Amino acid sequence: RFDRAIRPKTLADYIGQPAVCEQMNIFVSAARMRKEPLDHTLIFGPPGLGKTTLANILANEMGVSLKTTSGPVLEKAGDLAALMTNLDAGDVLFIDEIHRLSPNIEEILYPAMEDYQLDIMIGEGPAARSIKLDLPPFTLVGATTRAGLLTSPLRDRFGIVQRLEFYGVKDLSIIVARSANILGVQLDAGGAHEIALRSRGTPRIANRLLRRVRDYADVKSDGIVTKEIADQALNMLNVDSSGFDHLDRRLLLAMIERFDGGPVGVDSLAAAISEERGTIEDVLEPYLIQQGFIMRTPRGRVVTNHAYRHFGLELPKNADTND
Ligand code: ADE
Repeated sequence: RFDRAIRPKTLADYIGQPAVCEQMNIFVSAARMRKEPLDHTLIFGPPGLGKTTLANILANEMGVSLKTTSGPVLEKAGDLAALMTNLDAGDVLFIDEIHRLSPNIEEILYPAMEDYQLDIMIGEGPAARSIKLDLPPFTLVGATTRAGLLTSPLRDRFGIVQRLEFYGVKDLSIIVARSANILGVQLDAGGAHEIALRSRGTPRIANRLLRRVRDYADVKSDGIVTKEIADQALNMLNVDSSGFDHLDRRLLLAMIERFDGGPVGVDSLAAAISEERGTIEDVLEPYLIQQGFIMRTPRGRVVTNHAYRHFGLELPKNADTND
């Protein structure tokens, strides 16, 4: 509902990701000076770190419009052709979940990206014909959770590749303080820090928790979000001291209790906790790995001693190498 209000609109307002911001500032300025479209840009990183936000900022900084679609919704070549022929010169076409494009649509993208040429087949059988259309120069911005999910011919056609990292507590504190300011939430420094600590390094989660903690403060207290109020509200929401939610804990406990800490393959884990493999790989694992609770080994996933300690469990006897 108010998501748009709290999304930053310029690179100057975008908090954190210093390497991405420094590079994009230069590439945008250079393209603008030369009156060229920005080069095609691939943004990858776990969900909720601001890939869509960054795509919108790039269009805004270039002074062009952005048209949005996503890999799974583009079913027919005509769907993509309709979007591309409606672009104005320099516009950004944003394709979210670009790794989920069907192969026939991916092939239409190649000449479109390289030469601004649309090359599609119309009709069927003996009446089938190929038509070529000139497209306006445009920028494709693609977003995906992991760069490795893209085919290499597609990945190779992006002149700019940016990886978004999990945010540190400092940056997340600034993000929630900024959001609170826009939303009119009374949040003190201790409250901001507590929410930041427990948001899995992810602005989308921090902003969602801010709204829920605010509800709690309004109903149970005087509306001011302090460290104590944030702590009580987050405990009620089952967000633990490391920011793990129910699903994170299910995954870690399944590894400990059902697979003796691993190594275990991702498909066995998916079956054990009744989740999709993709959810484990794209949503759960990246943060648990970054925080050092899980390691990936050639034989499968292993929990570290960190995870045992988190749950107050005794360390396994042979746990001498995985700390
Ligand atoms: N909201 C989501 N990502 C953000 C960022 N990097 N800076 C400010 N607000 C955000």
